Amino acid sequence: MQVVSISSLKGGVGKTSVTTGLASAALAAGIPTLVVDLDPHADASTALGARSGDQQDIGRMLKAPRRARLSENVVTSGWVERASAHGGAPAGPASSVLDVAVGSAYTGIYDRPDLGRRDLRRLSALLAGAEKYELVLVDCPPSLNGLTRMAWSASDKVVLVAEPGLFSVAGTERTLRAIQLFRQEFAPNLSPAGIVANRVRSGSAEHTFRLAEMESMFGGLLLSPHIPEQANWQQIQGAAHSIHHWPGDSAKNAAALFDALLANLTAADGRPAAARVRDRVRR
Ligand SMILES: Nc1ncnc2c1ncn2[C@@H]1O[C@H](COP(=O)(O)OP(=O)(O)O)[C@@H](O)[C@H]1O
Ligand SMILES: [Mg+2]
Repeated sequence: MQVVSISSLKGGVGKTSVTTGLASAALAAGIPTLVVDLDPHADASTALGARSGDQQDIGRMLKAPRRARLSENVVTSGWVERASAHGGAPAGPASSVLDVAVGSAYTGIYDRPDLGRRDLRRLSALLAGAEKYELVLVDCPPSLNGLTRMAWSASDKVVLVAEPGLFSVAGTERTLRAIQLFRQEFAPNLSPAGIVANRVRSGSAEHTFRLAEMESMFGGLLLSPHIPEQANWQQIQGAAHSIHHWPGDSAKNAAALFDALLANLTAADGRPAAARVRDRVRR
């Protein structure tokens, strides 16, 4: 199991969009995946078509993480039903697992700058019950307070999302420093997996300049491919649809970008997870 946090210092840069894009790619590749919606605004849960009924939301589960039964309280994403209606994931229905630990305003109580060690470990304790997933994506709130740090404590990797703009580049540098400090103190195994440049406008001179700047500042940490500004993004998210099941060429192109991003991100032992899943299915 690989736990990946999607973080940034500020809001509106595309954390939730990148989280759901990666989740969509994981579903299409048949990688059993859990999305933990740690943002009190719960946008990822909305976009994934996941609403808790009798299940406990993530706020309640974090209150008593050792007693909470994660597997009984996750909600299946509405995308799964749609994917099977479209012929299922390539790996077959048995691998079409996309669950959500549904977001909740109650997580807000942990989003303090001074969260103690015990509280920082709440999510890792909860994820002890997540063995059935190959990938866990944690959508973080737009700050580096308690919730994001709780996510980092439970993660193997952190992905930072940044738009190619002046403040965003500076914010990314600050966030990388925060990760280094956090790592020394609390999470020696945590590594910054990379930076996703989002909302890139190909015709913009400013974006071209900032991307070159990011490349020289962050080098290999800048992940490929970049995600362009996508005109129908809000419409897709508003319909609680996955990018892989939205009609039209632009959605198809975006889906392919997220396939590549996921493969680059989850590459372990030099092999992308999607390739490993394909091999397993073939055997
Ligand atoms: N690549 C993109 N193209 C077009 N719109 C985008 C893109 N990424 C994000 N958005 C839009 O920008 C807004 C903020 O994105 P969101 O993913 O919610 O950011 P965050 O989670 O960092 O706050 C949303 O309305 C989303 O639809
Ligand atoms: Mg968000």
